[in-house]
Amino acid sequence: MGHVMDSPIVIQLFRQLFRHPVCQSRRSLATTTTTTGTAFGAPLQQHGRGRRVCERQRQRHSQCKQQRRTMASRDITRGEGLSKKNNETNWQQRTEMFSLDMSEEYKKYPTVTANDLRSRRERPRKVKMLMRDFIEDSLYNPHYGYFSKQVVIFSPGEPFNFNQLPDEPAFYAQLGQRYTEFEDALDAKEHDDTRQLWHTPTEMFRPYYGESIARYLMSNYVISTYPYHDLIIYEMGAGRGTLMLNILDYIRDKEPAMYDRTKYKIIEISPSLAALQTSQMMSDAATRGHASKVEIINKSIFDWESRVPSRCFFLAMEVFDNFAHDIVRYDLTTEEPLQGTVLIDELGDFYEFYEPVLDPVAARSSRVLRSLKRNLPFSANLSEPEYIPTRLMQFFDILEKYFPAHRLLTSDFHTLPDAVKGLNSPVVQTRYQRRMVPVTTPLVHQGYFDILFPTDFRIMEAVYGAITGRLTRVVSHEDFMRSWAYVEDTQTQSGENPLLSWYKNASMMITV
Ligand SMILES: C[S@@+](CC[C@H](N)C(=O)[O-])C[C@H]1O[C@@H](n2cnc3c(N)ncnc32)[C@H](O)[C@@H]1O
Repeated sequence: MGHVMDSPIVIQLFRQLFRHPVCQSRRSLATTTTTTGTAFGAPLQQHGRGRRVCERQRQRHSQCKQQRRTMASRDITRGEGLSKKNNETNWQQRTEMFSLDMSEEYKKYPTVTANDLRSRRERPRKVKMLMRDFIEDSLYNPHYGYFSKQVVIFSPGEPFNFNQLPDEPAFYAQLGQRYTEFEDALDAKEHDDTRQLWHTPTEMFRPYYGESIARYLMSNYVISTYPYHDLIIYEMGAGRGTLMLNILDYIRDKEPAMYDRTKYKIIEISPSLAALQTSQMMSDAATRGHASKVEIINKSIFDWESRVPSRCFFLAMEVFDNFAHDIVRYDLTTEEPLQGTVLIDELGDFYEFYEPVLDPVAARSSRVLRSLKRNLPFSANLSEPEYIPTRLMQFFDILEKYFPAHRLLTSDFHTLPDAVKGLNSPVVQTRYQRRMVPVTTPLVHQGYFDILFPTDFRIMEAVYGAITGRLTRVVSHEDFMRSWAYVEDTQTQSGENPLLSWYKNASMMITV
């Protein structure tokens, strides 16, 4: 297997990403942790140095039934010949690292938050910030963040006619073809080697996926609220707006009286996706009719400030996975938790520090999670890093405060292939020349990489329950679809059913 630097694609990628020459010779002086003092007199631990060192190549095995939201089009043909075609590449960080004692800088540099950086056009230098602020800034900074790059969500065009497809591999092949056509059409308008292209079940299985959600909403509305209140649906993070259109079309066709009482509100952080949602709705006469029922609110849920006392359903499909996490490690002798901070030096290199003082948000989250603490695999003098869902906890605060009569329906990945090291750790990946490039740390050039976390549904239920006092049920994607989809719609001639067999790594949580 060739070294990473032998690969022309990586040389190009890293040239594009980084201004510094890659793989300078200052590598591998030490791999151990340096311990120094802090201003608080408590031990401060510095970990991992100059993360932007070169990476090593390894082969990746296909994860057929486990989905993530990007797929490499050249890897899409499943079934026969897959192993030959599966030449997607994975990158692993070098284990050799160089050591620099940055404790003086750590004391000197100011602490900033993702919020402080929102107005900054340049990536920050000579600062430090909590890991959750680093992740949030990398993803959401309006100028250089990953989402500012205008991620494209794949649309298959016409819905797939599953009943006419011989079997699942045939669906996979057709999906691959449409994926390539979709991207060829974009490249014809404007060629883009770094286009980030996602796919979601809403789009692949439209309109059937949305129709099953509609059936769930309608049944539960009839049982609990009808006819005393309207059917009010909030959707956070609506992508192309496809779920909204599929739900509204279905209610209008099946229950016109209920449709008259329906309102649909989208809360969407991305200006370009919010605009796309509007234009999709206005694009043809049938969907234009929904306009009087729909409101598209272009803001982050974390900026939400108005109280919605009405009973409502709150949908969040594949949104939590980008919510920033904090990182915690435990001192092996004292079992004390230490919270991770990222220092960025004057060259833009990253250094991780661990402090035995949890900020109030992480401390609260850690209290909620304490009863759930699992057996931690240990290494060196600190435990493995554990990522804790602090932003998700803050989202539940918002739900409880502003949507006191909501019922949540959320779908996300419970595991993700190729995650970085640690518990509940994210996948950090980018797409370059239609190939996926996963890396081994979130401490990479801000804005070029998607950082997405699996959701530990057991922890999420506990946190949601603690904050809202509500009970929930967790079901697999497959079980939800078996309950609410008309599964014959997505069945191929062989009897295989991609709506049920794909997304094996996704689950749903529902307020009961
Ligand atoms: C992976 S896409 C999923 C889109 C859609 N739900 C689907 O399943 O096709 C995530 C969506 O959440 C939005 N989003 C991410 N963070 C958000 C936030 N803090 N507030 C509102 N929307 C957010 C993104 O812009 C995008 O529309």
